[in-house]
Amino acid sequence: MKSNGVTSVEGGAQRRLSLGMLSESRILRVCLGRPYLFLTTWMWRSLPVSLQRLTPARRYGMHLQSLIRLRAVRRQSFGTFFLRNRPELELMRRLLEERGHGANVAISVVGCSKGAEVYSIAWVMRSARPDVRLHVHAIDISREILEYAERGVYSLTTPSGLTGPTDEISSGDAGGRTCMDQSASLCERMTAAEMEAMFDRSDDRVTVRSWLREGINWYPGNAADPKIASVVGPQDIVVANRFLCHMDPVAAERCLRNVARLVRPGGYLFVSGLDLDVRTKVALEMGWKPVTDLMREIHEGDASLTGGWPLEYWGLEPFDEDRPDWMVRYASVFQIRRTP
Ligand SMILES: C[S@@+](CC[C@H](N)C(=O)[O-])C[C@H]1O[C@@H](n2cnc3c(N)ncnc32)[C@H](O)[C@@H]1O
Repeated sequence: MKSNGVTSVEGGAQRRLSLGMLSESRILRVCLGRPYLFLTTWMWRSLPVSLQRLTPARRYGMHLQSLIRLRAVRRQSFGTFFLRNRPELELMRRLLEERGHGANVAISVVGCSKGAEVYSIAWVMRSARPDVRLHVHAIDISREILEYAERGVYSLTTPSGLTGPTDEISSGDAGGRTCMDQSASLCERMTAAEMEAMFDRSDDRVTVRSWLREGINWYPGNAADPKIASVVGPQDIVVANRFLCHMDPVAAERCLRNVARLVRPGGYLFVSGLDLDVRTKVALEMGWKPVTDLMREIHEGDASLTGGWPLEYWGLEPFDEDRPDWMVRYASVFQIRRTP
């Protein structure tokens, strides 16, 4: 039986009844289901924030989130931010230091949505290493969002209520699309100086500067499709962030294995925003090497993910060095040593 990382010895002398096992119990799910979840959520919300940080409360939070995931209706989202996770970008910059003058670097950003992540990466990398020839593939399953991303034009007005469902994509104007699935402005995490460096501004709109838009290939594709590996070729860095959490675990695992095939042996996979059990399982099975540099900072580097725990299915559990598997579980970046 799976038990959220706690060992259970079937038929053996010792059996540890863990909260994780309780959450998977058929009795709880079938008979108590909704009332039990309601009560558990209410108890979490009643805990003072200072207590929520303690180990027993964290375990309780893990139990609560596993219940929420069992019942959640997952749906894709276009929500994104410029400079979303700064330690992640800093690690990409550091990895470039390994490359010689004039090197070619191939990078694919899968599930790129409105383009904020791609342009953020291009800005950090091109600013740090103008001598490096950066070849970027930006991939998304939605052709419409990809066309919008390629234009690189974003509205700065954030009218309330513009956080509509994804099927509004074809009807929305630029402002509507900028705000789609956003709980806050796309540019919320940028300083004025960073906006000045990345954008041309006109009234309430910004356009990504042309030197950042150049050299990006926008490719409509499904991350689960085995053919994308032959389309983009072997990549030095593949970024697959914050879309696998919106798939059920079986589909997410299949997709993750496929995306990893894009990485050349010795290259790097950045993958955050997915169920940690799925990532840990695949990383261990595939023998991926966790990158320890900035590991904790990256794990904690996106406030929208950490703030969603434990009440959202996509929320990210706190970094816990007491877990025996923490080095793999909390790594968001892996060096791919071999391909399947
Ligand atoms: C929440 S956004 C993430 C944007 C960006 N990666 C970030 O971290 O800010 C998820 C994006 O993944 C895309 N997506 C979902 N499933 C996909 C798939 N199977 N293949 C490619 N893109 C996918 C969605 O269309 C959406 O634009």
